[in-house]
Amino acid sequence: MVSTAPELSERPRPVTRDAQTITRIVRVNHAGEFGAIRIYSAQLWVARHFVPDCCPALEDMLQDERNHCAIFRAAMPPRNSRPCRIMQLWSCGGWVLGFLTACLGRNGIWACTAAVEAAVHRHLDDQLHFLATRDPELHRVILSIRAEELAHLRHAEDRLREKRASLRLLRDVISVLTDMLIWLSTWGDSMHMARALKAAGTGSI
Ligand SMILES: [Fe+2]
Ligand SMILES: [Fe+2]
Repeated sequence: MVSTAPELSERPRPVTRDAQTITRIVRVNHAGEFGAIRIYSAQLWVARHFVPDCCPALEDMLQDERNHCAIFRAAMPPRNSRPCRIMQLWSCGGWVLGFLTACLGRNGIWACTAAVEAAVHRHLDDQLHFLATRDPELHRVILSIRAEELAHLRHAEDRLREKRASLRLLRDVISVLTDMLIWLSTWGDSMHMARALKAAGTGSI
């Protein structure tokens, strides 16, 4: 588990455009972690009734996401960032996504986890390149969080033993839905962030 880092506020001050991108990074990440909390909460609610063997892993992931969310929330004030204005969208969208995929059973749960965690991992990878020299403390924290997200992804992929076309399609659909939710709930911040990362020659989006 990643610990909160009080030294997050002790960081070099980046130039204005970079500072704006860093502000967006923590806002988008905070929204994403909040969405993950809602997804796993809904999945746990269903899994407790129908697929209880999935619960221990989902509970561990939920605790990790709560910790990540708190870390990004703590990183906001020193970076002039605030939570997204329409977090409610993430709240509802994440819960519905988690609920519907959990209703499909184990494969639905792990296909959703794999799709969401892969999207998260892709975003964090792009951010790490950008932050390495611009915000070393945030870089260090995201590096630790990425290791836990990767563990979530590996866990889900290990359980998707049946690589049927329907599961691949489900993963693709969830990936698109996740990107749409991130874009909508951050009011385009994620798109601006991706452009800035690309302009800095670090992004793959
Ligand atoms: Fe997370
Ligand atoms: Fe995760």
